[in-house]
Amino acid sequence: MDLGDVIIYHGGAFKPYRDARVGLLTHGLNYGTGCFEGIRGYWHAPENQLYFFRLAEHYNRMRASAKLLMMKLPETTEALCRHTVELARRNEYRQDVYVRPLAFKSSEEIGVRLHNVKGDFAIVAVPHKSYFDASKGLKVGIASWRRIDDNSAPARAKLTGVYVSSALAKTEAVENGFDEAILLTPDGHVSEGSAENIFIVRDGVVITPPVTDSILEGITRDTLIELCRAELNVDVVERSIDRSELYAAEEVFFSGTAVGVGPVIEVDRRQVGSGEIGPISAALGDLYEKVSVGKLERYRKWVTPCFPALVGAS
Ligand SMILES: Cc1ncc(COP(=O)(O)O)c(C=O)c1O
Repeated sequence: MDLGDVIIYHGGAFKPYRDARVGLLTHGLNYGTGCFEGIRGYWHAPENQLYFFRLAEHYNRMRASAKLLMMKLPETTEALCRHTVELARRNEYRQDVYVRPLAFKSSEEIGVRLHNVKGDFAIVAVPHKSYFDASKGLKVGIASWRRIDDNSAPARAKLTGVYVSSALAKTEAVENGFDEAILLTPDGHVSEGSAENIFIVRDGVVITPPVTDSILEGITRDTLIELCRAELNVDVVERSIDRSELYAAEEVFFSGTAVGVGPVIEVDRRQVGSGEIGPISAALGDLYEKVSVGKLERYRKWVTPCFPALVGAS
């Protein structure tokens, strides 16, 4: 499908992507004054159904990001969820989908600030292409770039400008032969990957950096914490992690909308645990795959179906 033909939601209307244009002086493009989300839709062929995962939570997080930029999302979360489902229907997506809602300062006036700048809002849904293949485990390196500090530009909010930090680290990692980067906080603790939160396992306990260690408050992170406790009966502790604990850990894994559960098998050329995907990472990967297509009844609250249900399907 040509991107220009994809139906998007913009300016309160559904239209082809090619009809939505921004000018070169757009504030958000020049100053990074925008915020966005990344949402997955999982195609479940047995039910002929597309499920969006934790749709409302993504729009709620976006509302908080927008607030930081002194912007308001133009509609309620319920309405934005409805439009997202409508996009899947209008584009007749019967495959995995990636949704990118974007709110940005749209004025074409020179001048860096947040106040008195008008905003714009769009939702684009495109067929999903795998971000990277984590199925064999990832080899990662610590970035020489530090994660941005909350008092400089908060990583907690998904702000377009803040992603320069991720881009610097990711490219450095790939050019050094790694699959992904791990960024440290300004005071040297483990923060997160370029587009993923991080977990380690030590003595059977799952540990992840707290939300005060310059991380995006990940929706997959929240999902895995709940699944660990409720389904695997494994303790999860949110505390700062030292760099050297990554080398000592039995398991390390990433979490994120793009990667799902991304097991890490090497950090800074040191093998993690046995060098194989560990049992907790594998179990969480299996569970996540199931909950993302509504296969576990108690987590169906997390999925939004797009198409009418097949009669008799379960
Ligand atoms: C910097 C960063 N951290 C963590 C995540 C994971 O967040 P989520 O699980 O909500 O996708 C993402 C992905 O959106 C990200 O960009």
